[in-house]
Amino acid sequence: GTIYLKDYQQPNYWISETHLRFELADSDTVVRSRLSMQRRDGVAEGAELVLHGVELTLLSLLVNGVDVDQSQYSVDEQTLTIRGLPAQFELECVTQIQPQDNTSLEGLYQSRTMFCTQCEAEGFRKITYYLDRPDVMSVFTTTVVADKAKYPLLLSNGNPVDRGDLADGQHFVTWQDPFKKPAYLFAVVAADLALVEDSFTTMSGREVSLQLFVEPKDLDKCDHAMLSLKNAMRWDETTYGREYDLGIYMIVAVDDFNMGAMENKGLNIFNTSCVLAEQKTTTDAAFQRVEGVVAHEYFHNWSGNRVTCRDWFQLSLKEGFTVYRDAEFSADMNSPTVKRVEEVQLLRSAQFAEDAGPMAHPIRPASFIEISNFYTLTIYEKGAEVVRMIANLLGEDLFRQGTDLYFDRFDGQAVTTDDFVACMAEVSGQDFSQFQHWYDQAGTPQLDVSGEYNAADKTYTLSVSQSCPATPGQADKPVFLIPMATALVGRDGLLPLTLNGVDCGEETVLAVDQQSQQFVFENVTEAPVPSLLRNFSAPVKLRFDYSREQLLMLAARDNDGFCRWDAMQQLAVQIINEQAVAWRQGEAISVDSSLLTAIRALLGDAEANDKAMVAMMMSLPSLAYLIELSQQADIEALQAAREKVRLAIAVELQSLLLDCYHSNVSTDEYRPDATQIAQRSLKNACLSYLSLLPDQSAIELLQQQYQQADNMTDTMAALSAMVNSDGPNAASAKQDMLDDFYHRWQQEALVVNQWLQVQAGCGLAGGLDRVKALMQHPAFDIKNPNKVRSVVAVFCAQNAINFHHSDGSGYQFLAEQVIRLNELNPQIAARIITPLTKWRRFAPAQADNMQAALKQIMAAPNLSSDVYEVVSKSLT
Ligand code: ARG
Ligand code: ZN
Repeated sequence: GTIYLKDYQQPNYWISETHLRFELADSDTVVRSRLSMQRRDGVAEGAELVLHGVELTLLSLLVNGVDVDQSQYSVDEQTLTIRGLPAQFELECVTQIQPQDNTSLEGLYQSRTMFCTQCEAEGFRKITYYLDRPDVMSVFTTTVVADKAKYPLLLSNGNPVDRGDLADGQHFVTWQDPFKKPAYLFAVVAADLALVEDSFTTMSGREVSLQLFVEPKDLDKCDHAMLSLKNAMRWDETTYGREYDLGIYMIVAVDDFNMGAMENKGLNIFNTSCVLAEQKTTTDAAFQRVEGVVAHEYFHNWSGNRVTCRDWFQLSLKEGFTVYRDAEFSADMNSPTVKRVEEVQLLRSAQFAEDAGPMAHPIRPASFIEISNFYTLTIYEKGAEVVRMIANLLGEDLFRQGTDLYFDRFDGQAVTTDDFVACMAEVSGQDFSQFQHWYDQAGTPQLDVSGEYNAADKTYTLSVSQSCPATPGQADKPVFLIPMATALVGRDGLLPLTLNGVDCGEETVLAVDQQSQQFVFENVTEAPVPSLLRNFSAPVKLRFDYSREQLLMLAARDNDGFCRWDAMQQLAVQIINEQAVAWRQGEAISVDSSLLTAIRALLGDAEANDKAMVAMMMSLPSLAYLIELSQQADIEALQAAREKVRLAIAVELQSLLLDCYHSNVSTDEYRPDATQIAQRSLKNACLSYLSLLPDQSAIELLQQQYQQADNMTDTMAALSAMVNSDGPNAASAKQDMLDDFYHRWQQEALVVNQWLQVQAGCGLAGGLDRVKALMQHPAFDIKNPNKVRSVVAVFCAQNAINFHHSDGSGYQFLAEQVIRLNELNPQIAARIITPLTKWRRFAPAQADNMQAALKQIMAAPNLSSDVYEVVSKSLT
């Protein structure tokens, strides 16, 4: 059923202490719990205790050491209800579970040779009966018992306080976590893993042991995560004054994991893909992801663990804030502009679409059926944008005062997004009542802006109106407060700004707070080009009718990196769209020279610029973004047009591209730092264009790079271009390269995943057949989420041209995979449905087929709440 925020109530009972004992076994694992419980003040005597529990076998139940009579309790599929309880008591409960059969990867499960847990959001209830809700915070003591030979390593949260050997080759370790926490932060690991150890001295001089547990074969892939962790710990001290609070910080790498990683107190559990990194096997992008995720989980220790969420409607309280924190960390460690552009790309190509679809929800949702479905781009990325707006509205010093107040006031508590905003209002004296709509309204607001220069008055008037489309359950939108950072670009750079007689420097943040309003700049000495939404100052769509000359001017002369990049994007979008229209009508028109001129200028000046920015500015908008921009996307036409423009760039700028390629081949020793990453990205952007040239030398260039590469970024760039090339001689060269790659890397699961991804994402005809063949390959495993993501999700979400084949076969395929995964792993099943939920955005013939696939899923037996919610909301 649906759960509503407005129904929130505190529980009838609290749990002050939790004692757990795990007796891990090949089957019939036993969990013994002893809970110290207290009736909440104000709750009536004899009030029921309703504990959560799913897929548990109850072996015994005692209150204050006495068996609870059958008449005093009842059990159903989701709960254990006990009646007639005193105000304070000890509840002892023994349950039996089957982690070896747990394919949902939620609760306690097995991954390869280890036992591990994932409890967020509601997995703890698959371990034992409990008040599995984040406002119930308890101190945990955990004993883990297992076979000593198979599981020499026994871990849980906090500090080890006891250990010893037991009969029959068993041993145990007892862990005590001194910090109160909700059950979702609990973790247990039993494994035989290798350890990489380092240490960190906190700002107050305490020594923390940093421990990274991986399979022995991965010991050479730990340096980057360890360095990232130390950098993150230092950064959080300097930037937020936050210090780590336990003597040990552990990270365990796990191969089977539903998400990226989990911030369990003192014992993070990571998807191997988010922790292992080494130059030969890991791309630059993956190195940066490791850095970001390690930091993200570390930052949760304060934004999430010390101060946690009252209920799951508040998820963005910890996730939005923590993503903002990790984004700023990554920006500081690398190129901030590149990082910002990547964030915008993700928002525009995926979050905006989510916010316009049937699952659209505010960053603080008002209701949900299954919370696992709300670990979304909206909660995380839009949530981070909202925190960023707050930080910008306050400025650095006040924002720090606000976060200090928040951490101090709510330490050890479970709180709400309102509590967070109230701290910001309190320290700044600002009124956040209008801003609050960012929390309770779904949908992407749109700004429509026009500008008029009056030469006689020397004024420039920006007219701004805002709107926000209806979203499910929210027909009429209120007026948002939208901070729009603005500058005016003149012939020789930025013009000084005067508003209402006040000098505002060269950049000002206009507070757009009405449905429509005007801002009049004074003393404007020439007709300017407005630079709007600088550094993407709000997560909105912005329309301004720029001419191509104006876009060229911004791309060349604006000093805001995001706006320069965005100008190139807008130019490319215009040009691809006009090509798409022509293609659909069967006409051939030449590619407008403005884009070629701009890229030529960029390449000509590449040495003087941030090379990563040049690489991004010369790359065309993704097909996903082009689809997102169109009302009813003509995918075939967009793809054909995009390829035509790419080819034109390759042909026209061939020699410049080749020069730029060669001058960025490096002989320096590999480092995953900003400078080298930028250089490789520029080189590989050139390679990608050059690979389109219809001659043998293109293939030879790819083969040469593939053979000479000493790092996975260059290897994958060559392989990816090769796989996507369809020249007359490409076929056998392609197969050779794919075979060679597989043979070289078949022992490395994460590398094999990249091999799967590049094939599943290939936009050439015949995609579905290739994907079906990959699923028969020994490297594929439907039970491993990384494999499912690499093949099924990449094909359905990132290979639009094949997935949306007009015969509907892609939709049919996805429906089958969802139905299969619904039985095995509902979270993953629900997640991969996303491309089908967008059916309203397609022409009727396609939309009908997509709907039919959704209906087919709806008719399948045993639908999980995860799949049911996504499908039912998509169909209504
Ligand atoms: N809190 C984790 C993170 O963002 C995400 C884990 C959520 N897991 C899940 N199965 N819903 O760092
Ligand atoms: Zn998180």
